[in-house]
Amino acid sequence: MVKAVVVLGTNESVKGTIHFTQEGEGPTTVTGSISGLKPGLHGFHVHALGDTTNGCMSTGPHFNPGGKEHGAPHEENRHAGDLGNVTAGEDGTVNFTIVDSQIPLSGPHSIIGRAVVVHADPDDLGKGGHELSKSTGNAGGRIACGIIGLQG
Ligand code: CU
Ligand code: ZN
Repeated sequence: MVKAVVVLGTNESVKGTIHFTQEGEGPTTVTGSISGLKPGLHGFHVHALGDTTNGCMSTGPHFNPGGKEHGAPHEENRHAGDLGNVTAGEDGTVNFTIVDSQIPLSGPHSIIGRAVVVHADPDDLGKGGHELSKSTGNAGGRIACGIIGLQG
Protein backbone atom coordinates (compact mmCIF):
# COMPACT_ATOMS: atom_id res chain seq x y z
CA MET A 1 0.00 0.00 0.00
CA VAL A 2 1.35 3.42 -0.99
CA LYS A 3 -0.05 6.45 0.81
CA ALA A 4 0.18 10.16 0.04
CA VAL A 5 -1.22 13.34 1.50
CA VAL A 6 -1.90 16.95 0.49
CA VAL A 7 -2.34 19.82 2.91
CA LEU A 8 -4.10 22.62 1.04
CA GLY A 9 -2.56 26.04 1.45
CA THR A 10 -1.87 29.45 -0.11
CA ASN A 11 -5.36 30.78 0.52
CA GLU A 12 -6.32 31.93 3.98
CA SER A 13 -9.96 30.91 3.91
CA VAL A 14 -9.82 27.55 2.09
CA LYS A 15 -8.37 24.73 4.16
CA GLY A 16 -8.28 21.01 3.71
CA THR A 17 -6.49 17.71 3.75
CA ILE A 18 -6.60 15.08 1.01
CA HIS A 19 -5.41 11.49 1.37
CA PHE A 20 -4.46 9.09 -1.42
CA THR A 21 -4.02 5.33 -1.14
CA GLN A 22 -3.16 2.73 -3.76
CA GLU A 23 -2.90 -1.02 -3.33
CA GLY A 24 -0.51 -2.61 -5.84
CA GLU A 25 -1.48 -1.75 -9.43
CA GLY A 26 -5.09 -1.07 -8.43
CA PRO A 27 -7.02 2.20 -8.56
CA THR A 28 -6.15 5.11 -6.30
CA THR A 29 -8.64 6.13 -3.63
CA VAL A 30 -8.79 9.84 -2.85
CA THR A 31 -10.52 10.97 0.34
CA GLY A 32 -10.71 14.63 1.17
CA SER A 33 -12.16 17.22 3.46
CA ILE A 34 -12.17 20.88 2.41
CA SER A 35 -13.70 23.92 4.12
CA GLY A 36 -14.02 27.62 3.38
CA LEU A 37 -15.45 27.16 -0.10
CA LYS A 38 -18.28 29.00 -1.83
CA PRO A 39 -21.28 26.57 -1.93
CA GLY A 40 -21.51 24.58 -5.17
CA LEU A 41 -19.16 22.88 -7.61
CA HIS A 42 -15.42 23.46 -7.74
CA GLY A 43 -13.03 22.01 -10.30
CA PHE A 44 -10.63 19.54 -8.69
CA HIS A 45 -7.48 18.46 -10.52
CA VAL A 46 -3.98 17.08 -10.29
CA HIS A 47 -1.68 19.64 -11.91
CA ALA A 48 1.69 18.66 -13.37
CA LEU A 49 4.14 20.42 -11.05
CA GLY A 50 4.65 20.41 -7.30
CA ASP A 51 5.90 23.99 -7.50
CA THR A 52 4.18 26.62 -5.37
CA THR A 53 6.91 29.27 -5.57
CA ASN A 54 4.33 31.54 -7.22
CA GLY A 55 1.38 30.15 -5.32
CA CYS A 56 -0.97 27.86 -7.20
CA MET A 57 -0.10 29.55 -10.52
CA SER A 58 3.24 27.74 -10.73
CA THR A 59 1.74 24.24 -10.52
CA GLY A 60 1.51 24.15 -14.32
CA PRO A 61 -1.31 22.70 -16.44
CA HIS A 62 -3.40 19.62 -15.69
CA PHE A 63 -1.25 16.48 -15.39
CA ASN A 64 -1.50 15.04 -18.91
CA PRO A 65 1.08 12.34 -19.66
CA GLY A 66 -1.14 10.92 -22.42
CA GLY A 67 -1.35 14.19 -24.40
CA LYS A 68 -5.17 14.17 -24.35
CA GLU A 69 -7.90 16.82 -24.16
CA HIS A 70 -9.60 17.96 -20.99
CA GLY A 71 -12.61 15.84 -20.07
CA ALA A 72 -14.72 14.18 -17.44
CA PRO A 73 -13.18 11.60 -15.08
CA HIS A 74 -15.14 8.69 -16.58
CA GLU A 75 -14.14 9.47 -20.18
CA GLU A 76 -11.36 7.94 -22.25
CA ASN A 77 -10.29 11.32 -23.62
CA ARG A 78 -9.26 13.19 -20.46
CA HIS A 79 -6.16 14.44 -18.76
CA ALA A 80 -4.95 11.99 -16.10
CA GLY A 81 -5.35 14.85 -13.64
CA ASP A 82 -9.02 15.45 -14.45
CA LEU A 83 -10.85 14.48 -11.28
CA GLY A 84 -13.98 16.48 -12.05
CA ASN A 85 -15.64 18.58 -9.37
CA VAL A 86 -16.14 18.55 -5.64
CA THR A 87 -19.44 19.98 -4.36
CA ALA A 88 -19.41 22.20 -1.29
CA GLY A 89 -22.54 22.40 0.82
CA GLU A 90 -24.20 25.54 2.15
CA ASP A 91 -21.66 25.62 4.99
CA GLY A 92 -18.81 25.70 2.47
CA THR A 93 -17.45 22.29 3.39
CA VAL A 94 -17.17 19.07 1.40
CA ASN A 95 -16.11 15.56 2.35
CA PHE A 96 -15.57 13.29 -0.63
CA THR A 97 -14.18 10.01 -1.90
CA ILE A 98 -12.99 9.55 -5.49
CA VAL A 99 -11.69 6.25 -6.91
CA ASP A 100 -9.65 6.72 -10.09
CA SER A 101 -7.34 4.56 -12.21
CA GLN A 102 -5.24 7.29 -13.88
CA ILE A 103 -3.47 8.76 -10.85
CA PRO A 104 -1.02 6.09 -9.61
CA LEU A 105 1.26 6.70 -6.62
CA SER A 106 4.25 4.92 -8.17
CA GLY A 107 5.71 4.19 -11.60
CA PRO A 108 6.38 6.51 -14.56
CA HIS A 109 3.03 8.33 -14.30
CA SER A 110 3.11 8.74 -10.53
CA ILE A 111 1.42 11.84 -9.13
CA ILE A 112 3.81 12.05 -6.17
CA GLY A 113 5.52 15.46 -6.17
CA ARG A 114 2.79 17.03 -8.30
CA ALA A 115 -0.03 19.23 -6.96
CA VAL A 116 -3.74 19.19 -6.26
CA VAL A 117 -5.61 22.38 -7.23
CA VAL A 118 -9.11 23.45 -6.18
CA HIS A 119 -10.78 26.02 -8.44
CA ALA A 120 -13.17 28.91 -7.86
CA ASP A 121 -15.73 27.72 -10.41
CA PRO A 122 -17.25 24.49 -11.75
CA ASP A 123 -15.24 22.38 -14.20
CA ASP A 124 -17.45 22.07 -17.30
CA LEU A 125 -15.78 18.69 -18.06
CA GLY A 126 -14.86 19.84 -21.58
CA LYS A 127 -18.51 20.39 -22.56
CA GLY A 128 -19.01 24.11 -21.93
CA GLY A 129 -18.21 25.36 -25.41
CA HIS A 130 -15.86 27.97 -23.95
CA GLU A 131 -12.42 28.44 -25.49
CA LEU A 132 -10.95 27.02 -22.27
CA SER A 133 -13.29 24.00 -22.02
CA LYS A 134 -10.91 21.59 -23.77
CA SER A 135 -7.87 22.65 -21.74
CA THR A 136 -9.03 23.58 -18.24
CA GLY A 137 -12.79 23.04 -18.13
CA ASN A 138 -13.04 26.82 -17.67
CA ALA A 139 -12.89 26.25 -13.89
CA GLY A 140 -11.73 29.75 -13.01
CA GLY A 141 -9.12 30.83 -10.49
CA ARG A 142 -6.93 28.53 -8.44
CA ILE A 143 -8.20 29.10 -4.92
CA ALA A 144 -6.23 26.43 -3.08
CA CYS A 145 -3.48 23.93 -3.82
CA GLY A 146 -0.99 21.65 -2.18
CA ILE A 147 1.86 19.33 -3.08
CA ILE A 148 1.23 15.57 -3.14
CA GLY A 149 3.73 14.05 -0.73
CA LEU A 150 4.47 10.51 0.36
CA GLN A 151 2.99 9.46 3.66
CA GLY A 152 4.23 6.62 5.87
CU1 CU B 1 -7.01 22.68 -12.11
ZN1 ZN C 1 -7.85 18.69 -17.59
